[in-house]
Amino acid sequence: MSRRNVAVVGATGAVGQEFLHLFESRNFPIGSLKLLASKRSVGTKLRFRGEDVPVEEVTAEAFKGVDLAFFSAGAARSREYVPAALAEGAIVIDNSSAFRMDPNVPLVIPEVNGELITPEQKLYPVANCSAIILLMAVAPLRKLGTIERLIVSTYQSASGAGAAAMRELEAQTREVLEGKDPVPNVLPHVYAFNLFSHNTAINEHGYNEEEWKVIQECRKMLGMPDLKINVTCVRVPIPRAHSESVTVEFAGPAPSVEAVREAYRHAPGVRLVDDREGNVFPMPRDASGIEDVLVGRIRADVSNPNAICLFVSGDQLLKGAALNAVQIAERLIA
Ligand SMILES: NC(=O)c1ccc[n+]([C@@H]2O[C@H](COP(=O)([O-])OP(=O)(O)OC[C@H]3O[C@@H](n4cnc5c(N)ncnc54)[C@H](OP(=O)(O)O)[C@@H]3O)[C@@H](O)[C@H]2O)c1
Repeated sequence: MSRRNVAVVGATGAVGQEFLHLFESRNFPIGSLKLLASKRSVGTKLRFRGEDVPVEEVTAEAFKGVDLAFFSAGAARSREYVPAALAEGAIVIDNSSAFRMDPNVPLVIPEVNGELITPEQKLYPVANCSAIILLMAVAPLRKLGTIERLIVSTYQSASGAGAAAMRELEAQTREVLEGKDPVPNVLPHVYAFNLFSHNTAINEHGYNEEEWKVIQECRKMLGMPDLKINVTCVRVPIPRAHSESVTVEFAGPAPSVEAVREAYRHAPGVRLVDDREGNVFPMPRDASGIEDVLVGRIRADVSNPNAICLFVSGDQLLKGAALNAVQIAERLIA
């Protein structure tokens, strides 16, 4: 693979840091690397391949000579700077929600709909992290029957709300153990030893933004605009990796538990963790820092012969964000 000049916008953030780790661990062919963030981070240096790389402020001019730009600095920054990066001829892979539902751009999980990665397409949004982890578990079941409905509850970790939320959970956990009463700052409620409904705005249907993103983006990625899907998103006091309880309903009788296990044994990016005797199933601690999404707790839905139930854990900073973006880039430059 020939080397590419790469920029990371949001390099100092929780997702941004994962890009640097993945470029190293996957030996990504980098010519030059530009690390971009806000004015606040100018003067910061980040370690990459044994060198200290200075962080620069993102500007429209920063993309001159850049072949590949990875964005993870929020939707407002993507709306502002993605057009500049595209105008300079860069391929853009964007972890924000800014362009996900644009009908002119594909929303790609390489293992699910990788055929949508083409040399002509220059902008690739990366889907919501909970949607990616969900579809990594659901997509391998498409060959076992027609999926008609998904019912999902999420257990979302602190890192899903960025580096500041991770620090807040850690600090609050210490404070509670010291008998203090924490005052929330980054998130709206006390997070340590608590859980709460995802803190995004509630729409006219009574769903928060996170739930609505999962619903809309899953329909788009599966190419099923009428898919019946209902989602409840909850933040739990876990540092890293999101988990999800999933019921998959088929148009006819559900496949057997063994057929579902067999489908996962052959699914790229998925690891089966389904030990009933040992009572070992997917856990966020085990999913943290690994590329595979863990799937298990596979059982028939005793209330519905057409459905099966699963439990899933996946590192949303990796497969739910930076890894999915790097995988798209790898396919493009292969
Ligand atoms: N966390 C996840 O699990 C996850 C998963 C999927 C997608 N995403 C998306 O990825 C993006 C980043 O999330 P994160 O969790 O990494 O957040 P984060 O830890 O809070 O990092 C935010 C990054 O954006 C930069 N930034 C903020 N304001 C900026 C500005 N005005 N100009 C330039 N840079 C600015 C920050 O730079 P400074 O350090 O200089 O402030 C930092 O590098 C978001 O769009 C998020 O929705 C996150």
